[in-house]
This record gives sequence, structure tokens and C-alpha cells, in this order.
Amino acid sequence: MAIIKVEDIAHVRFSAPDLGLMRGFLEDFGLTCFATGGRLYGKGGDGRPFVHVTEPGEAKFLGVGLRAASIADLEALAAHEGTAVEPLEEPGGGMVVRLTDPDGYRIEVVAGQACEAPEPCAAPQFNSAAAKPRQRETIRLDPAPAHVRRIGHAVLKVGDFRRSEAWWKHRFGFLTSDEIEAAPNVPLGAFMRCDRGDVPSDHHTIFLAQLPGPLGLLHAAFEVESLDDLMLGHEYLKTRQREAAWGVGRHIMGSQIFDYWKDPFGNELEHWTDGDLFTAADPPAKQTMQALLAVQWGAPHPMFAGRMAPPPGLIAFVTAMQLRIKRLFARSPKEA
Ligand SMILES: [Fe+2]
Repeated sequence: MAIIKVEDIAHVRFSAPDLGLMRGFLEDFGLTCFATGGRLYGKGGDGRPFVHVTEPGEAKFLGVGLRAASIADLEALAAHEGTAVEPLEEPGGGMVVRLTDPDGYRIEVVAGQACEAPEPCAAPQFNSAAAKPRQRETIRLDPAPAHVRRIGHAVLKVGDFRRSEAWWKHRFGFLTSDEIEAAPNVPLGAFMRCDRGDVPSDHHTIFLAQLPGPLGLLHAAFEVESLDDLMLGHEYLKTRQREAAWGVGRHIMGSQIFDYWKDPFGNELEHWTDGDLFTAADPPAKQTMQALLAVQWGAPHPMFAGRMAPPPGLIAFVTAMQLRIKRLFARSPKEA
């Protein structure tokens, strides 16, 4: 039984040596930025006070915020952890419980933030062969940054997937949508969604991935208004000579149309639209690492984009071997 069930992701937090440089990128990326209390904040059009925070300091990912349903939930979580519910002294106020996960990530669980009215959001009508809802109307789009609506998910590298999975699920009520295996019975991670009962929830809010290399944030993802908005945002970031990372394409797990970019400090941020939603009644599935890296259409994963690209099966094999070796060494002290 989970201590609480979080509603959604709230924000991601970074530090960077040049807030002006970060602001320039975030505005090109489609966030509305403002500075207060020595920090830089980025917000989307959903009325929430902020979704991206940068503090002055060395270039670093600092942590992730989750949104609890109520202050009472924060109190239950704080009691379980033997810690306190504190005032959140940032735009929008509210309260926060600060935790540290098994890999040392800062987790800020927030509730009671004041929100503004959401901005109007364009609802484009796409004509298809089956249905033509747009009639006697044209599509005319202006070049502009994408319109980030909200933060959708974060992907964290973890040292031990099963340990992290247990920690995150027990505290926050996450449900597995898709578990990824590098080989049969060698799990490397899972896409996990919020348990909101009958209320549909994004296919994933957190993805914990035990992959080779140093720990850290793999990316944070932001929902934009629509496919047109994502594509206009892509063109705009190109004209601004920002660093593209991967996209545009359509993922398999979650089905999102995606577009990944790097900020000036090497952090990866994703635009996405048209993702899957599930309720608590939908069962988890198992998926291969090949499916994780493949696309339904669009740009291949950068690992497979070169002419000398390794086959996906080889990457899965090497990852599975690394995970098995790690598992073996993790077990041996007890067995000895
Ligand atoms: Fe993503």
C-alpha cells in the first residue's frame, strides 16, 4: 500500500552558471520565464506557478518536484519519513516535503500551490480520410516558439532499478505502464504513471532506467499544444541554432510524438504531444529494449543514425550482460 498517490510531476530543478543563457534557451523552447529571489523560473500555459527552476551555481541537475493531491497527503508522507512539511518559499507558495531517493536525487513533493487561470490553448482540427471536422476554414500558422503547456515527465538513471522502483512506488503510488527488459528477466527500467483511479493519467510521469554510465537526468519532457505547435517549435529552435538531440518521431511506449533538444548546459529537454493515457485499471506490460529505442515513424535514435550504427540487438545484449554482472556482484556478499 502506497503512503500517498501523487497526481503529477510538478517541476524540474537545475543550477547553471549563467541564468541569462538558460533563459534565452528556455524562451526559444517555449517557456514563459521570470526571475525572482535570485532564481530563474519557467512556466507553461496551464496556470501552474512554475515547471522549470534554475538556481545560480555549477551546471547541474538538482532534483524533481512531484505534486501531491493535498496538504494532508504531505503530512502523511512527512510522518512516514520522519520529516517536516515546510512552506514552499517560491512563486505560488504552498507546502513541500523534501526527500532524498536511494540514488541521492532531491525529490520535492509539493501541494497547495496557487495557480493562475490557464492560458487559452489552440485546439486544432485535423481532417482525415475518416472524418473532416474542419470545413470552410484554412490552416495558417505563424513561425514561433512552441507553446509549452505543462511538464509531463522526467527520466532518471538509477543504480539499482528494483530498489528505486520499490522506493518510488511505496511512497508515491506509481503504477507500471511498461517495464523494459534488456533480456528475459533482466529488467532495466519502467515507465511509471500516477495512480489517479478512474481519472486517465499520462502513460508515464517518471521513467527509472538502470543504464550504463553516470547517474543523472536523462531528460525532462514538456507537453506542447499540438502537432503543428511541436513542428513550428522544431523549426524555430533550428533557426535559433539550438542543439537538436533526437526527433521528430513517434515513440512506441507512450505513443508520443517527440522532439528532444539540449539546453546550453547539456541538459536534455523534450517537447511532446499526443501521448497515451491510462487509468489504474490498465495492466502493466513488458517491452524489449529494442522497442524502447525504436520509433513508429521519424528520426531514428541517435545511436542508430550513423552509417556504422550497432544493431539494436547488440546494444540490448551488451546492456543485459552489464546488468547481469552487476546483479551477480550485488548478490555475492550475502551468498558468501
Ligand atoms: Fe520522454
